[in-house]
Amino acid sequence: MSVRVMTIFGTRPEAIKMAPLMKELQSRPGIEALCCVTAQHRQMLDSVLEIFRLTPDYDLDIMEPRQTLSTITTKCLLGLEGVFEQAKPDLVLVHGDTSTTFAGALAAFYHRIQVGHVEAGLRTWDKWSPFPEEMDRKLVGDIADLHFAPTKANRDNLFREDIRDGVFITGNTVIDALKTTVRPDFRFTTPLLNELDYAGKKIVLVTCHRRENYGQPMADIMTALRRIAEDFPDVELVYPVHLSPVVREAAGKYLSGHPRIHLIDPLDVEEMHNLMARAYLVMTDSGGLQEEAPALGRPVLVLRKETERPEAVAAGTVKLAGVEQETVYSMAAELLTDEAAYAAMAHAVNPYGDGHACRRIADAIEWKFGLRTDRPEAFGM
Ligand code: UD1
Ligand code: UDP
Repeated sequence: MSVRVMTIFGTRPEAIKMAPLMKELQSRPGIEALCCVTAQHRQMLDSVLEIFRLTPDYDLDIMEPRQTLSTITTKCLLGLEGVFEQAKPDLVLVHGDTSTTFAGALAAFYHRIQVGHVEAGLRTWDKWSPFPEEMDRKLVGDIADLHFAPTKANRDNLFREDIRDGVFITGNTVIDALKTTVRPDFRFTTPLLNELDYAGKKIVLVTCHRRENYGQPMADIMTALRRIAEDFPDVELVYPVHLSPVVREAAGKYLSGHPRIHLIDPLDVEEMHNLMARAYLVMTDSGGLQEEAPALGRPVLVLRKETERPEAVAAGTVKLAGVEQETVYSMAAELLTDEAAYAAMAHAVNPYGDGHACRRIADAIEWKFGLRTDRPEAFGM
């Protein structure tokens, strides 16, 4: 008898972090691995599915332009009813903190299906920031039966909420993914990325998309970015702009029309990881980039007021730059002019994983369902 495990995901970062886990689950003879995508993201999700050669068993295709949190959540809940009735999984795996994650866990709970939470235990302890992610992951923490915490600090956060059973420290699956994508001889298919002068110029890789940054914070951040390009002639700023219309409008307004600011479409994950590996500096409000860039030895300025990923801040490769124009500008200016300050941040650290998170998660599932007797060892302990 095999255990039926269904992964559910919908956005780009969930797909990047769940794809290597799907492969691992598929390789286990005792597990029947099924994949359901909500397609909360469409193009950005399909790009990841193509790179990792994953074909979902179910596709809810829910994305709408300018979708709201309510439409995403209700469409997922309703769509998953039919999926669960047909597939009857023993365990549902959700990832992280998106609306798909929350709705996937809630739908499984309504159907009395066990839930495993991948990337569990990240917290800022501020329910409004990141919004809605902090509440999504807290609520999923209450629902889940298995909690795959990337780090010890994440596990301790769960302990603080009295979540103690079924908690495993696994590392983050993004480090597993990174091991398959970054290659020294990688050739980009986006022409600009082959033309950039990586040795002579300072490539600043930017992403910015968070809902709590919409409006004034995003305007401030983008104005600071423009000033950086204007004041430092050796900077080439590369910004693959998220497909959200709110973000595209802001980027067009504040950053277009400068010869050294390159606003480009979202990159596929291989191009993104290989560009990051060659960049001088990363400036971002993304969660995933805060994990990837330190592993690649690239300094990161986080364009947020807080972070649920304090490990790389403690290791010295990530700094919180906030969302105010003057601070963002001056922190970037320091790293562009002060070699010692730059060198102090530019070293590779791997607090988020060792590339074996997927193996530990699959082992833990097998252990939980009686397919093995040994509990997996914890990452970093
Ligand atoms: C979502 C997640 C956020 C995560 C981010 C990763 C929620 C509430 N937010 O935010 O936690 O960090 O994904 O990128 O779950 N769009 C497209 N094509 C795509 C993707 C998006 O056109 O492939 C446009 C659509 O108009 C869509 C809008 O972007 O309505 C916003 O997408 P949505 O998933 O609601 O929010 P994100 O900001 O992407
Ligand atoms: N990413 C990508 N192409 C891009 C921008 C980001 O492949 O143009 C990858 C990035 O390397 C990371 C993930 O997408 O693995 C992060 O996604 P995002 O920033 O959208 O979401 P978050 O991590 O903030 O939830």
